[in-house]
Amino acid sequence: MDYKKYIAERIKLDGVEEDEIYSSIALPPNSEMGDYALPCFKFAKVLRKSPAIIAEDLKSAYITDDVISEVSAINGYLNFKVNKIGLTKAVLNDIITEGAKYGSSVDGSGKTICIDYSSVNIAKPFHIGHLSTTVIGGALYKLYKFLGYNVVGINHLGDYGTQFGKLICAYKHWGNKDEVERGGIHAINDLYVRFNNDADESMEREAREYFRLIESGDKEANEIFEWFKSLTLKYVNGIYEKLGVTFDSYAGERFYTDKMQPVIDELREKNLLKESEGAKIVDLDKYGMPPCLILRSDGASLYATRDLAAAFYRKKTYGFHKCLYVVAYQQNLHFKQIFKVLELMGYEWAKDMVHVAYGMVSLEDGAMSTRKGKVIWLEDVINKCVEKAFAVIQEKNPNLENKSEIAEKVGIGAVIFGALYNNKIKDIVFSYDKVLSFEGETSVYVQYTCARANSVLMKSGNVGTVPENYQPNAQEFEVVKQLAAFPEILTEAADKYEPCYIARYAVDLSQKFNKFYFDCKILTAEGDAKSFRLALTQAVLQTLKNALSILGIGVPDKM
Ligand code: ARG
Repeated sequence: MDYKKYIAERIKLDGVEEDEIYSSIALPPNSEMGDYALPCFKFAKVLRKSPAIIAEDLKSAYITDDVISEVSAINGYLNFKVNKIGLTKAVLNDIITEGAKYGSSVDGSGKTICIDYSSVNIAKPFHIGHLSTTVIGGALYKLYKFLGYNVVGINHLGDYGTQFGKLICAYKHWGNKDEVERGGIHAINDLYVRFNNDADESMEREAREYFRLIESGDKEANEIFEWFKSLTLKYVNGIYEKLGVTFDSYAGERFYTDKMQPVIDELREKNLLKESEGAKIVDLDKYGMPPCLILRSDGASLYATRDLAAAFYRKKTYGFHKCLYVVAYQQNLHFKQIFKVLELMGYEWAKDMVHVAYGMVSLEDGAMSTRKGKVIWLEDVINKCVEKAFAVIQEKNPNLENKSEIAEKVGIGAVIFGALYNNKIKDIVFSYDKVLSFEGETSVYVQYTCARANSVLMKSGNVGTVPENYQPNAQEFEVVKQLAAFPEILTEAADKYEPCYIARYAVDLSQKFNKFYFDCKILTAEGDAKSFRLALTQAVLQTLKNALSILGIGVPDKM
């Protein structure tokens, strides 16, 4: 049950929406004061009263019941105490009956969300820079599904451009079928790097011709291109599988080749297309932005042209409620321009387009050896994390069964969690030691907490039931409140496009559980206390599993 909602519904303030009250209600830092608090400071202006008086007035008007048992006004805060017995029983029963569904909702039913994420470039390295888009997008995908939305995951492939002409040219000169087949994306990348280093003017000319051949539908050129594409996809799909991400569409830039002309025509009809040095642009000067390039002077389309065509296609095909683009902040301007152009074309749904921007990831150990010069392949980062996880497990628990399987879950989880734990807009420095620490704010810590909870439940042999009228002690109640907050954390994460809220939540819940675990005995407790504590342990394990599964992270039974 959503206690904040329960409270918000029962508070009336002139000129303040229930939503605003809802979002202002917080957990007070000191739980002596109450379980929830409404700070009244920001209402002072609208109501022309001091926060202390507002809190007093609200207190007198509030009618307590068997859910909220006590209300007090202190220094401009309205504090609420919930009926601990009622809350505790309701939350634990919810979790135990709902199981893997705890936290899910039907809020999104009937609404479609498109998420453009990962969006790899064919024949280019899949590197550490693709980590965030892949795991943030993947987490949002699972989160929205959990909240009842219809979700369309789109991998907007970078499969358009003159580089494919270069690649075919390089292959023709230096390539060998078996080698490319065997070496896959790495071999293709080698050819591309070699072209950029060694191609002379005549090869450059040839490359342009190959590009033209792809464009004009030449059979051989297209076969080679499709082959490179399938090798790239085979490779990235292996990584997607490890990271637990999936897509419903791989419609890339090339897919829009025949869908751009109608957009260009419409821009012209709407008088938005201007000529500038031979190119066709949409002038955005009035909005403080450089022009959006639609056609180059040689008539070629651009990245933006294809994105405009893609936006129309998505709206028409999926009728989205929102269309998200999980793309690095380096492309802020690009998306601002695209969204502005759609708005200028008169489409009110332009407001439903969201650029979910994120910061850069770099490696702490920048000198890490890579197969390809400076590029850090994501695959290498994952493998190294799994290897290190194996070494840690080997040291801590050498007799564990299925060590390799567990190391996979721990290592991959650490890569995902490492990329998700901070607010997405922050640049992050990825450190193997940090993400694999058992003590830090890591997935390893959360997984370890799960293994601990699991071991308690295994030893007890029976599942706890929630006793009637159980009065939880302070530590127990802290855990209960944290458990109760899960559904609202998911809603907030979805509203703000921040999977990190879920990651932080999992760490918080683990910390609270561990504190309870060390302070209160579970297996040696007796009677009601024992059943209650086992039920609480089970509820924590379930909720942590649900949280991690949204992030794409598995939970080993033992560690
Ligand atoms: N492939 C692009 C890149 O690597 C990202 C594409 C993002 N999606 C989009 N619709 N523009 O930069």
